Amino acid sequence: MAAEENSPSAGAQGRSAEAPPPLHVAVVMDGNGRWAKRRGLPRSLGHRAGVEALKRTVSAAPDLNIRWLTVFGFSTENWSRPAAEVAELMALPKRYFESDIARLEREGVRVRVIGRREGLSPELVKLVEDAQARTAHNDRFFLNIAFNYGGQADIADAARRFAEDVAAGRARPEELTEQLFASHLATADSPAPDVIIRPSGEQRLSNFLLWEAAYAELVFQDVLWPDYGAEHLKAALQVFAGRDRRYGAVVADDVLAAG
Ligand code: IPE
Ligand code: MG
Repeated sequence: MAAEENSPSAGAQGRSAEAPPPLHVAVVMDGNGRWAKRRGLPRSLGHRAGVEALKRTVSAAPDLNIRWLTVFGFSTENWSRPAAEVAELMALPKRYFESDIARLEREGVRVRVIGRREGLSPELVKLVEDAQARTAHNDRFFLNIAFNYGGQADIADAARRFAEDVAAGRARPEELTEQLFASHLATADSPAPDVIIRPSGEQRLSNFLLWEAAYAELVFQDVLWPDYGAEHLKAALQVFAGRDRRYGAVVADDVLAAG
């Protein structure tokens, strides 16, 4: 990537002819309950069907130039759901890893679970740590699963870690920059998401990647998550490709026009 940027053919003019940089796509997996309700099924079956949609999406992603995929599986606010539903949601990582971790490992996927470990059962924490350790050597594709994750909780945790560093004499308040702060977030090892997709028709972030979303394109789709698959992901990326990303700046043509 760095070498490409320094090559004589790179730069603002030459860039469009080059392969686009790999994408970080984030997805709010929403609509499981409505999917089940429409079929007269218990919500638990909607969540199980959601795991199948996750499998389809993960397997479709690499061919669509996606290198990082971050999915929202359970939020810090989801604890307020009925206990039986929380229990069902807590069982999903096991269901997913039992069926897929060997394949993910083999296919070069590095799995990370981002979110608070407090509140998770010791069995679940072990399962998560095992899945991460087993795939830690992989670097072909990065799958981040946000579980017991909240954007505000993560920002508060990052602030606490920095404050602890200051209290211990390892850091000084005046050193704090956006970059240093971001290095304390759970997503520190991934680039910022290029696009955040939310299916199910809802149009909000619901506490997902609040810091990281600064310049993400938001794409909302009218499909319930258990129905999601390669075609929907492809359609979302087509919408994304049509967006004009300026990061607060202006495009070169407008600079010329203004002059
Ligand atoms: C997404 O589906 C799963 C989680 C948020 C854990 P929902 O359970 O939110 O489904 P709806 O929104 O009720 O349809
Ligand atoms: Mg929902």
